[in-house]
Amino acid sequence: MIDRDTITRIINTADITEVIGDFLTLKKRGMNYWACCPFHGEKTPSFSVSPSRGIYKCFGCGVAGNVVRFVMEHEKMTYVEALKYLARKYNIEVRERELTSEEQVANNNRESMMVLSSFAQDWFSEQLWTHPDGQAIGLSYFYERGFTGKTIRKFQLGYSLDKRSAFSDAALKAGYKKEFMVSTGLSIEKEDKLLDRFWGRVMFPIHSLSGRVIAFGARTLRQDKNVAKYLNSPESEIYSKTSVLYGIFQAKNTIIRSQKCYLVEGYTDVLSMHQAGIENVVASSGTSLTTEQIRLIKRFTPNVTVLYDGDAAGIKASLRGIDMLLEEGMNVKVALFPDGEDPDSFARKHSSTELDAFLKENEKDFISFKTKLLHDEAQNDPLRRAELIKDIVRSIGAIPDAITRSVYVKECSRLMNIGEEVLLSEVAKFRRKKLYDYKPDMPVGTPEETHKPAPLPEPIDPNRYFEKAEEEIMYYLLKYGTQHLFTVTHNEQERAISVAEYITGELLNDEMELKNPLYGQLFDEYRQLTGESDEERVKYFINHPDGTLSELAIHILSDLPPLTVQHFANSQEPETMRLPRIIPKVILAYKARSIKVSEDEVLHRLQEAQAAKNEEEMNTLLERLRMLQKHSTRLSEELKRLIF
Ligand code: CTP
Ligand code: MN
Repeated sequence: MIDRDTITRIINTADITEVIGDFLTLKKRGMNYWACCPFHGEKTPSFSVSPSRGIYKCFGCGVAGNVVRFVMEHEKMTYVEALKYLARKYNIEVRERELTSEEQVANNNRESMMVLSSFAQDWFSEQLWTHPDGQAIGLSYFYERGFTGKTIRKFQLGYSLDKRSAFSDAALKAGYKKEFMVSTGLSIEKEDKLLDRFWGRVMFPIHSLSGRVIAFGARTLRQDKNVAKYLNSPESEIYSKTSVLYGIFQAKNTIIRSQKCYLVEGYTDVLSMHQAGIENVVASSGTSLTTEQIRLIKRFTPNVTVLYDGDAAGIKASLRGIDMLLEEGMNVKVALFPDGEDPDSFARKHSSTELDAFLKENEKDFISFKTKLLHDEAQNDPLRRAELIKDIVRSIGAIPDAITRSVYVKECSRLMNIGEEVLLSEVAKFRRKKLYDYKPDMPVGTPEETHKPAPLPEPIDPNRYFEKAEEEIMYYLLKYGTQHLFTVTHNEQERAISVAEYITGELLNDEMELKNPLYGQLFDEYRQLTGESDEERVKYFINHPDGTLSELAIHILSDLPPLTVQHFANSQEPETMRLPRIIPKVILAYKARSIKVSEDEVLHRLQEAQAAKNEEEMNTLLERLRMLQKHSTRLSEELKRLIF
């Protein structure tokens, strides 16, 4: 671990325009420097570098970061590698921090496991290219499948010999420890002997986001139905199946540039697509898609196209998984390959241009695709039709954005030939249920019900509102935290209150918890900073070793604050002068809304309790409701007083 002082020295010394200038041609305009963004394709520059803040931001694709982040993203380096790169550039001596003994052990273990995995990859590749069996069996298999040497090298494919301990013997001989051979799952301990997990298989190394080998998928070459086609590394300290996507390392640059990610099923699909020139492709490798995997993609783009083999059973099985993509706010499209073809076989039979054209032509919006698919099937069967409606409602209801939802409601009501307001109210019902865990579990969209829509108002999406309000609060906290806000007289003593003191006090007094855990983390850490100026605090967060936090701070500070309260927008006075008026309003409005949401929640629970004739619960809830209402009246009066 590089010690904190060294990191600070590197960040303070590195000149962001100089560092980025090594890779891009920067032109000065105003206070900032501009270039065409290296992370997405563009012809007019929207990538800006601010030397005074030490940050970059692209107004086209939204990427942002500090000098370390830039080197990491542009050069595909890890955090430590990027720091070392900058240290070399500026002749700074790198001092490594002493790790606690636990940290050391954990770090060393992970590092040893990765070093061993990398050795294993080298060894399997070497067998593939140079061992007679590797060439005759493994390499010729890949060639027969149509993979070129270039593809095989790019993905570092290999071959494990058809012997029980060839790899384990080689690793022991090279000095690797038994402990790590077992913990990576490369070897299996049996009666004091080390046997290989993988033998007689072609090897697909699985890379981390930064390109290190963390696991393997291994395909048998036997036709025998009793042998599992793929054998994979077990879960370990360095490999979590549910958070990795096969091919993400090789794909991420193109994903960012093209703002699109293709999702396929298998290793070979990824390889074939690459070979056909389509590099923005990843595979979930056999497991159903997880939220972690989706968020990984979302770091690079919100646009996903799922590619399906052309068999109907497979499609229906995976429809559910796609709702998860929608739930994460992704824009989802699907493309269906002709019957019996998967991306791999299709890519092999057609030229790159044909594949590209095929994808462009066949790519369909997911919800419309699903609606048509199920609609054709349901035809005149009313029960199936009810199922279908329920299904579509679930998909549309998963989308976080209200406007997108209403667009889909229109489209699907047309496709399914069903009233728009019926569909709308079903979606609202579904969301209400999801948001407030609304019980009892009413069947959605049974045939009778579809005739009499229950007009429920669209519940507000509290997350969206809070997101903005919390961002605004964090903006004032970060930018003006140490500034004087106003003076209060307490016990005949005058006391100056800073912006940070005010915000902290207001939030903590009412036991408000920031809804977005990241803002919560920022807030907690901010409160631990003492005695530094606003500039230093801002710098601390912009250069935070946790990339997510630093990114968050940069976004908060480089975008205009979202205005949750309409303050005197055309006022000419500088922002600092307006703080005493704005900040209390922002906080009050935030609290008021927060209480409103709690009220809604209690109201719903009250309805339930009423339905269940649970009087005791009803009384408790009524009491709570009265308290909330009192509180909320007080807040809105205060807010009114502040506004007029
Ligand atoms: N898979 C697995 N274990 C299995 C079968 C499949 O982990 N026993 C995963 C692999 O990641 C595989 C993916 O599921 O790539 C898709 O399976 P499949 O379509 O059967 O494999 P392909 O990659 O298409 O392999 P091939 O074309 O060589 O049959
Ligand atoms: Mn296949």
